[in-house]
Amino acid sequence: MLQDRRDFLRSAGAGALGVAGSLWRSPFAAAQIPTVVRSPYIQNLSRTAGTVLWTTREGGVAALEYSTDRSFSSGVTARTREFLPAETGMATYYQQEVRLNDLLPGTQYYYRVVHNGKTVLAGDDLSWRTAGSGPFTFLVFGDSGQATPAQLRVATAMLLEKPDLVLHTGDIAYASGTFEEFQRVFFNYYKEMLSRVPIFPCPGNHDYATRSCGPYLTMYSLPFADVPPPDFGRYYSFDWGNVHFVSLDSNKPLADVDRGTGKMVEWLETDLANTRKFWKVVYFQHPPYSTGPNENTPESALARRYITPVLDRYGVQVVFSGDEHNYQRTLPVFGGAAVAADAGTVYVTTGGGGADLYNTNPNPLAAMSESAHHYMRVTVQGTKLTARAIRPDGSEIEAVTLAPPPVISDLRVASAAPSSTTPVHRGTLTILGRQLSAYEVTDSSYFPPNEVNGTVVHLDGRRLPLMYVSGDTIVALLRATGRGQATVRVTTPNGWTETTTYFSSSPAASFAVR
Ligand SMILES: [Fe+2]
Repeated sequence: MLQDRRDFLRSAGAGALGVAGSLWRSPFAAAQIPTVVRSPYIQNLSRTAGTVLWTTREGGVAALEYSTDRSFSSGVTARTREFLPAETGMATYYQQEVRLNDLLPGTQYYYRVVHNGKTVLAGDDLSWRTAGSGPFTFLVFGDSGQATPAQLRVATAMLLEKPDLVLHTGDIAYASGTFEEFQRVFFNYYKEMLSRVPIFPCPGNHDYATRSCGPYLTMYSLPFADVPPPDFGRYYSFDWGNVHFVSLDSNKPLADVDRGTGKMVEWLETDLANTRKFWKVVYFQHPPYSTGPNENTPESALARRYITPVLDRYGVQVVFSGDEHNYQRTLPVFGGAAVAADAGTVYVTTGGGGADLYNTNPNPLAAMSESAHHYMRVTVQGTKLTARAIRPDGSEIEAVTLAPPPVISDLRVASAAPSSTTPVHRGTLTILGRQLSAYEVTDSSYFPPNEVNGTVVHLDGRRLPLMYVSGDTIVALLRATGRGQATVRVTTPNGWTETTTYFSSSPAASFAVR
């Protein structure tokens, strides 16, 4: 088989970059088998694309071969970057990176690593599963990389989990976020998990201690759409299932905002305004509301000043942070004060990933706290999200379920006059708000359903057909005319809300249910 490839490449002149599909043949340069220094890790995985990185001691032509059926019939040649001792303080290594496109959503892929035409890594752990629809699970941990026995216990416990993705809330590499520390206390600890589950990190203050987060920025390949180029890799957002995730950087970019030069909060505002997902989950290192030795850090104060007002405005349901080396959960918070269940943001501090523990102090916003090593397992099932804090022995500190009810912020009515395709006067009622539907569904048929994902709209007690539903918008169909005051009620599996509106007598905008 390998001989066939060599022959093919000689005749084809080799160097086929980024060729996917059945014609893939691995480029071949020399017969040297390299040492894999950093095992493959999955990055920036979405429904249809992903990135895999690894490092090798020797140079050469590296590639990744993959398929859904273990035939490894597709392949992509790696982009290689050489890291010299002068930059890293380590022996020379080569970072290999492949970007995979045209993947199928919700699909398991298997891969193997090829170097100079020979398979150098293969096995069942080398796989990824693209984002899909429906329920999913993610893990969250932080403040992990201090090479303590507890770090190993938490890492071992997480290895038994089968998450779809993992978040890290920062302080990945103590004490200074050097290249060597990232290798020793991050990649070496989690390599089995990282080879099959994508990790979406955010940087902590310790990760910033070397050249303003320089090593971190070279190692992770993260989404950068709409992020200002100077901040590429520091903060970003992405979707998974019905969740919009936002990873912020509470270090330099937040300090830049305070100096009047940073764009992160402006970017956050636009980013949250543009998502239609039911769930909005934000994470960054410094917790706005928590107790312990770090509760008065300047970064947490800046987070309260600049970040939490935006989270309030866009109805972010959950925030994960670290920095305090323990577990804490606040009551729902809005405007800096505790509010009713599901009416504010729950702030979870999950800084128990392995570093030496900190105490917690009494605090009126704290619903639960424990000075314990742990990680979070979060399950998202439509309109319900359950977050579990789990100790390394598998026992739970607690489990909390969020089920936020619908919120209506605005109503708009539009009309369509009778035509050959719509013989009766039809109009639409657009409902804007939050937490309106678990998933986005469009139905452009003449008779759309009057219930989608458990979401129902009543106009004066009668159900309206639903042409479009998402987390922040519903478009319902109005048939026939009418006028006067009417009550619009939105019901989801989490509850209902209603508002009164007035349909004017204007023929262009007067509708009610027949
Ligand atoms: Fe820390």
